Amino acid sequence: MSKARVILSVEQLSKQYSGGFQALDDINLDIRRGEIFALLGPNGAGKTTLIGVICGLVNASSGRVLVDGHDNISEFRQARQRIGLVPQELTSEAFSKVWDTVSFSRGLFGKPPNPEHIERVLRSLSLWEKRNNRLITLSGGMKRRVLIAKALSHEPDILFLDEPSAGVDVELRRDMWAVVRGLRDRGVTIILTTHYIEEAEEMADRIGVIRGGKLMLVEDKHTLMSKLGTKVLTLRLMAPLTTLPESLNDFDLSLSEDGFTLDYGYRSTVSQPSDTPNNIAALLAALAEADIEISDMDTRQSSLEDIFISLVKEQP
Ligand SMILES: Nc1ncnc2c1ncn2[C@@H]1O[C@H](COP(=O)(O)OP(=O)(O)OP(=O)(O)O)[C@@H](O)[C@H]1O
Ligand SMILES: [Mg+2]
Repeated sequence: MSKARVILSVEQLSKQYSGGFQALDDINLDIRRGEIFALLGPNGAGKTTLIGVICGLVNASSGRVLVDGHDNISEFRQARQRIGLVPQELTSEAFSKVWDTVSFSRGLFGKPPNPEHIERVLRSLSLWEKRNNRLITLSGGMKRRVLIAKALSHEPDILFLDEPSAGVDVELRRDMWAVVRGLRDRGVTIILTTHYIEEAEEMADRIGVIRGGKLMLVEDKHTLMSKLGTKVLTLRLMAPLTTLPESLNDFDLSLSEDGFTLDYGYRSTVSQPSDTPNNIAALLAALAEADIEISDMDTRQSSLEDIFISLVKEQP
């Protein structure tokens, strides 16, 4: 990748906590200017530690981090100024007011007051009506949005969102995704962590998979999903089949021993290029044509665990 396109560069980064636990193991990662990057991994994988090291909250044991060319230790202020962080944990300044806490955050980065900017941020997060509320009077989802507002208060170029949708309802999650996309459209680079494949698939341009402190792969979302993101459609039949009719040979089908269920493996449509036909419709038509009646159906997406299992299989 050309250096001009790289806004954040993590080089040979390792972290051993004082008890000796190796939380990060030789992480190398370049983030492109303007992309949404999702870091996907299970509990304890090292996601928050990696963000902590990049933001200068956790000391690395070795390696370095360049934020838009600035070393995050020797040029801490320049590096940190470019970063907004929405932490995983809610820290409470329970009695501060929304407007004050967000404006104060801006000041911490040495930026002059800019009430228009703060107003824009609060409006975009539907917090304007609550600007004079004390944090303690807000709902959990609103508090989370205040964290986002704080992170945006100093107009960062890179925004980290650590588990943005943990404990957030479906509606707020959608709102948040819309806000994140809006930021990206204005040129902000976004790095988010998540446990959810669906979230990574919905939001990201590229996905990194981390487990046990190791970055197992970094891949364009579409490439990763088409490699790993298969779904299975299970069809329950009204009457058992002994063999599959030849007219169904084109489909990736397997028939259960009792002849009552058909499994169909297909690619998730979100990750499919738009010109690929969706074969479920064709399959259902072919089944109707062959007079095979269906009593029930169910779909299952390969889980994060399945993805890890196939990764481990690929890389013995
Ligand atoms: N201060 C610390 N001292 C010792 N070990 C730590 C410390 N902080 C984190 N760890 C360990 O490092 C590992 C990675 O933790 P981290 O918080 O980075 O994981 P994570 O990927 O963010 O997990 P989650 O999805 O649960 O948020 C865990 O095993 C954790 O117990
Ligand atoms: Mg975490």
